Amino acid sequence: RHIDDLGHVRGKRVLVRSDLNVPLEGTVITDDGRIRASVPTIQKLADAGARVVVTAHLGRPKGAPDPQYSLAPVAARLGELLGQDVAFATDTVGDSAKATVDALEDGQVAVLENVRFNEGETSKDDAVRGAFADRLAALADVFVSDGFGVVHRKQASVYDVAQRLPHAMGGLVAAEIDVLRRLTETPERPYVVVLGGSKVSDKLGVIDNLLGKADKLLIGGGMVFTFLKAQGHEVGNSLLEEDQLETCREYLRRAEESGVQILLPTDIRVADEFPRDNGTTSTVVPADQIPADKIGLDIGPESGAAFAAALADARTVFWNGPMGVFEFEQFAGGTRDVAEALTKVDGLSVVGGGDSAAAVRTLGFDENAFGHISTGGGASLEYLEGKALPGIDVLS
Ligand code: 3PG
Repeated sequence: RHIDDLGHVRGKRVLVRSDLNVPLEGTVITDDGRIRASVPTIQKLADAGARVVVTAHLGRPKGAPDPQYSLAPVAARLGELLGQDVAFATDTVGDSAKATVDALEDGQVAVLENVRFNEGETSKDDAVRGAFADRLAALADVFVSDGFGVVHRKQASVYDVAQRLPHAMGGLVAAEIDVLRRLTETPERPYVVVLGGSKVSDKLGVIDNLLGKADKLLIGGGMVFTFLKAQGHEVGNSLLEEDQLETCREYLRRAEESGVQILLPTDIRVADEFPRDNGTTSTVVPADQIPADKIGLDIGPESGAAFAAALADARTVFWNGPMGVFEFEQFAGGTRDVAEALTKVDGLSVVGGGDSAAAVRTLGFDENAFGHISTGGGASLEYLEGKALPGIDVLS
């Protein structure tokens, strides 16, 4: 059920699970993309007169209160974006939460403290999770699932609570699923997938699934060194997952058999050590000649141009994971080349994942230049792997 099918919500307490897991430096939000993406659903409910109770997590605290993961700064930012006061409960289901929810008037919004401050949220024990979900559900009359970034988690505020309240899918989750469905069901061709980020092991399922579906697979980021090594090249001190070498060899073999083109970088930007500031000296070397004492930190300019060329005629693109350590200007070139190429795609371009979404924003790209910027990293990858998403399945 979609949020529009909920009927009258005036005066009702509506619990909204949002994904407000944003990067923070201290209490300063460095990228508020996920909060902004969560606003329309919250706004819509408030405008309709609901008493909106937002629940969300921040980081991975260990099931107990931990001040560095407080949602207080996030609640404040949400209030600014909504243009109205947002109440903040200093616990999730305790006295503060109850009092805060009781005090809400129609059209007002409250945020509950980090749901992961409670061990019941992420417990693997169904009974423990269920008991916590009971307390969460007691705060509301209706549940709206809008935290797309967490729908792959079988957690109390995502999964169990939906079994305890009348529920609906929020606009953000509906929009995200709609785009991902277009990627998996009827992608217009050529369909090009760009993968980066640090670990191959995070992307195994998706590579596996895409080898039969995409026309081209472009690989960069830290994960590329395991592929280069699998081809027999030295990678110096670059990131390497020894235990994935055989898997990478198999992917390269399968790609050849199935006619999927895997594009690896031909040049790499390297340095002596992991950068600590923008002053680190870097050089560009051929991808098959990385010196033993160097560490690869970005794809080189030749590769950036080749990736851009491979994207030029694409009609569908999915991109997950930066091409290099884009947080440092001298290693942002590859990520910038790919982002730039995506903005020119004539068709559907999807940026998936917290890191790549943050990358395009911190590199100064206009979000509207992309077809869709997903708020979900793990969630969108698991969808593309063809895995079931507990937070979606429970809604149907
Ligand atoms: C994310 O950042 O991908 C989501 O908020 C989920 O967070 P998690 O990986 O800690 O469950």
